[in-house]
Formats: sequence, structure tokens, C-alpha cells
Amino acid sequence: MDKFQFHAPTRIVFGKATQEQVGTLCKEYGAHKVLVHFGGHSAEKSGLLELVCHKLQEAGLTYVLLGGVVPNPRLSKVLEGVKLCQEQGVDFILAVGGGSVIDSAKGIAYGVANPGHLWDYYSGEKKITAALPLGAVLTIAAAGSEMSNCSVLTNEDGWLKRGLSTPFGYCCFAIMNPELTYTLPPYQTASGCVDIMVHTLERYFTAPTTQELDIVDRIAEDLLKNVMRNALILKNNPQNYAARAEIMWCGTLSHNDTTGDRNYGDWSCHQLEHELSGKWDIAHGAGLAAVWGSWARYVYRENVSRFTQLAVNVLNVPNNFRNQEAVALEGIAALEGFFKQIDMPTSISQLNINLTEEDIQELAYKCSFIGKRTIGQFKKLDQTDMAAIYRAAK
Ligand code: NZQ
Ligand code: ZN
Repeated sequence: MDKFQFHAPTRIVFGKATQEQVGTLCKEYGAHKVLVHFGGHSAEKSGLLELVCHKLQEAGLTYVLLGGVVPNPRLSKVLEGVKLCQEQGVDFILAVGGGSVIDSAKGIAYGVANPGHLWDYYSGEKKITAALPLGAVLTIAAAGSEMSNCSVLTNEDGWLKRGLSTPFGYCCFAIMNPELTYTLPPYQTASGCVDIMVHTLERYFTAPTTQELDIVDRIAEDLLKNVMRNALILKNNPQNYAARAEIMWCGTLSHNDTTGDRNYGDWSCHQLEHELSGKWDIAHGAGLAAVWGSWARYVYRENVSRFTQLAVNVLNVPNNFRNQEAVALEGIAALEGFFKQIDMPTSISQLNINLTEEDIQELAYKCSFIGKRTIGQFKKLDQTDMAAIYRAAK
């Protein structure tokens, strides 16, 4: 990482009662008519949606509502949103929810501002050149979409799940009140914690030739330890404000490049997982937990010292300079042990998926873009490697 750019333009408004500022913030960023975009029932049930609408009205703004975003958000909902925005003259999009709602909002923002079929942009055929402005009221700490430039959508035609990162994919602002995450089911809290950790781990495992910056490693390692400590607190006490706040801010820092420039990161586990959640609609973080250990055991020999560093600095494995490989493997097992502690799966069967050899071939075929790409930087993986990891994670 001797050359990099750091660009994190989103304004963060963090803390208790910050959702009260939503109307004034939308107005400040030029909104007149807002699309309020949300998911299933959680924002309605908690009263957040009603408060948001009230605050928009109070600020003199008009709005239209579009709910129904599902986890692993669908292209069809995005296209519905684009049509609605065009018909209604919407000039600002407000996402009220988690990564799925924010990513769907980003898709709508692109769809309104760019010509042609939206999927052409997600499949890499065309380049995004503009977007409607958007903001977020975050209700789950996980994906980091509130401050990343990425949006991940699933096209029901072929169940293809694809990410798109563009310079136009940043929220203008993100409201982050940790109290809004109190109502999360424990499974979603834990899945979010895994996703947060893996965003940092993907960045930690760079190509073996990459010159690391010590300060970035230290931030990454402390963030991982902090998430582990606070995830365990939340398991027993989900309404612990301090722990919710730690996790929420870690979620943002983990994916805004503070813990490493994403361009140097490995990202294999994310690519492998996206095929799982694209096909079986599982929670993204849980899918990451199911494949991470198998990926790690498949690749660690490329740079054993990186895995021993993780084991010693993050997972409290005693160093043994005579057997670095054993330390690396103990570290991998320790991280899987932590996933188990927070009731996350460490294999695909624990996601209630009975993976057949046919599934494995299909997943690897799709993940390799029909054999046309490799994934990963720590170790480059081709279609055969991908199939081997899915098989090991079975
Ligand atoms: O739909 P509702 O009823 O709101 O329920 C949601 C959903 O079922 C629920 N939830 C959210 N906040 C809640 C709550 N339930 C109770 N109380 C609350 N306060 O939680 C469930 C999961 O929500 P979702 O938005 O899907 O979670 P997450 O933030 O983990 O987002 C996952 C999506 O983000 C993508 C994933 O692939 C997945 O599609 N990612 C996006 C990234 C990005 N844009 O930078 C990066 C990530 O690596 C990831 O790929
Ligand atoms: Zn992720």
C-alpha cells in the first residue's frame, strides 16, 4: 500500500436522537421531493418511519414512500423505484434501513440519472456518470454501505448478485443512532458483526508482495478485537448502548477504507459468498462466516506470516517461532471458534444448505464469470480453486 487515495465524503451524524435531524439534513443537501425507501416491517414497527416522514414535512419537504426492499435487494424493486422517481419528480433519495435498503437506494439513484438498462452498469458494460443525491438513516451495523461507494444488487433473471462501486455511490449523509439497532434479532446482529470483521480481513490479506503500513495494520487489528469484544457483550445484553455504538462505528470504519484501501484487498470470501446469498437468499455475514475458514486454510501458505500475525495480534494465540504454520492454523481455528460463540455457521451445511456437487460447479462457474475471471489478491483463485473452497466449506 505505498500508493493510495483516501476518499470518504459522507457526513456522519452519530448518536442518540440524531434521526430528528433528518428533515433539515435532506433540505441542506438540496432536497425538495424525497423518495423514502425502506425494507420490510422493522422501520414501521419501531415508529422510525413515521418520525422520518414527520421531520421531512416539518422541514417543508414533500415525499413519496417505497418500501418492500428485501435482504439481498432485487433489481425489480430498484426499477420500480426509478419509475416512481421519474413520475413523481423526486430529487433526493432517503434510505431508512440497512445495507439492502441503502444499496437499493443507490441503484435507484443511478437508474434515474443514467440512460439505458440499469443492469448494464452492474454487469460492467457501461459506466455510471451521475446519480441523484441520497442520504441514509442506518438501522443495522453490517454492510458499511452508509459510507462505502458500493451497491450490491441481485438480478432475479439468473439470480446474479453483483456489486458496483462508483465515485457517485456515496451517501451525502448518514444518520447513525446506535439505539435504532436495539430491535435487531440476535442473528442479524451477529451476522452484521461478521460482515464488519470480514471487511477488515479482506483488506488485511493483500497480495504477498504488498508493502503494508504498520498504522493501518494496528487500526485493523484493534478494530477486529473491538468487534469481537462487543459482539459478545451484545449477545447477552442487546440494549447495551456503548457496545451498540462501538459496533456501529466499527461497521462504518471497516468499509470506508480506514482499515486498508479496498483496491489492495483480497475480497475472495465476498465473491464466494455473493454466489451463496444470490442463490439461497441467506444473510450475507452468515455466508461469510461459513466460507472464511475454508478459504483461509486453502490460501494461508501463500504468506504464513500474515496469518500468524493475525493469530498472535488479534486472536491471542501464543507465538511459536519454530512452527509458524501451527500458529497460523490455530489462529484460523480461533476465529472460527469466535464465529461459533456468536452462533454463526462455520460451514455451508449449517446454513441449512445441502450443497451437491452440481451446486458447487454452478457456484464456481458463476463466481468465475463463466470461467473468465480469477478472484483474490492474497492468492489468485480460478474456477477450480473456487469449487475446491466451496467443497471444503460444505
Ligand atoms: O426489512 P426489514 O424489516 O427492515 O428487516 C431487516 C432485514 O430483514 C432487518 N433489520 C434491519 N434493521 C433492523 C432490522 N430488524 C429489526 N430492527 C432493526 N433496526 O435486518 C435484516 C437484514 O437487513 P439488511 O439491510 O439486508 O442487512 P445488511 O446491512 O447486512 O445488508 C446486507 C446487504 O448488503 C450487501 C450484502 O451483500 C447484502 O445484500 N453488502 C453491501 C455492501 C456495500 N454496499 O458496501 C458491502 C457488503 O460487503 C455487502 O455485500
Ligand atoms: Zn460484506
